Amino acid sequence: EDADYIKICEEYNYLIETIPKGNGWRVKHLYNYNGFWLNPIYIKANLLLHAYFKSHPTDIFLASFMKSGTTWLKALMISTINRHRYNFCDHHLHHHGPQTTFSFLESELHSYPITDFTNMSAPRLFATHFPRTLLPSSVTSCKFIYICRDPKDVLISKWFFMNKIRDKDLPPLSFAEAFELFCKGISDFGPFWEHVLSYRRASLDAPDKILFLKYEEVKEQPEVVVRKLAAFMGEPFTMEEDEERVAENIVNLCNFENLSNLEVNKKGVTKFGKLVVDNREFFRKGKIGDWKNYLTEEMKERIDGIIHEKLKGSGLTF
Ligand code: A3P
Repeated sequence: EDADYIKICEEYNYLIETIPKGNGWRVKHLYNYNGFWLNPIYIKANLLLHAYFKSHPTDIFLASFMKSGTTWLKALMISTINRHRYNFCDHHLHHHGPQTTFSFLESELHSYPITDFTNMSAPRLFATHFPRTLLPSSVTSCKFIYICRDPKDVLISKWFFMNKIRDKDLPPLSFAEAFELFCKGISDFGPFWEHVLSYRRASLDAPDKILFLKYEEVKEQPEVVVRKLAAFMGEPFTMEEDEERVAENIVNLCNFENLSNLEVNKKGVTKFGKLVVDNREFFRKGKIGDWKNYLTEEMKERIDGIIHEKLKGSGLTF
């Protein structure tokens, strides 16, 4: 271990002793690190990211708040960027869960020796749930695709997911508690609204650097979004590709019904550092508005009120 790594471990230990903590969704406690609630392993990952990660100007990042459509976007991005490599009859995604196709920075950076990404070919793709303000400037100078979603659907999706992967020695997280925590901003990588705003502001400043998407918009016009992705990643569809209906093929391949019924997504697993998650947990319903089955009118009003207040002036609504 090098001296820098030892210093980071000391800094991490000091932080954990001193910064505010709140109830966690998967693990016992989340810690407030520079305004965001993080699982402690991601605080260490963030320190390592700042110290060790070397970005390349051609890197492309997918950023999201958890449960906003990350799995779907990973599938769409990988199949768009590799459309010359794979054919749609026997595709990489038929055998690999979308979450395995490229890594979350925060899951890769956890211990010594530090993961070295130098051998990946360009453009390197990475995902992250870190808010923009927690990323080093070398990273934020790269291209970003950000996906967000109606926070009410995010809350429901997250509550189900986190209970599935919650530490076995903890009691289940009740919905009433999850709701309360979410409204207070205390949920992994939250507050939700600060996360969204961190990317929203940057996308307004530099729209060519951040493609800002909503889950609902991908649902409504998936082919339009795939075209945007291709152009944004530097390779718009050609007329020949249009004749071959490539964008439509990508949409169909990555469609919820199609992906969720593949053997690999029913039985396979994905590793995130030490955490192993069944691929099927990334495919629950894939619908807009499932919150209607869980939130009372009062709960809906409360979340909408918070979001309206917090996002005022951003031009963003849900
Ligand atoms: P629900 O729990 O509402 O069904 P993430 O990928 O960021 O973890 O988000 C997971 C959410 O996206 C889940 O929402 C999941 O069902 C949905 N999802 C996963 N793959 C999808 C796809 N191909 N199309 C639409 N939604 C998808």
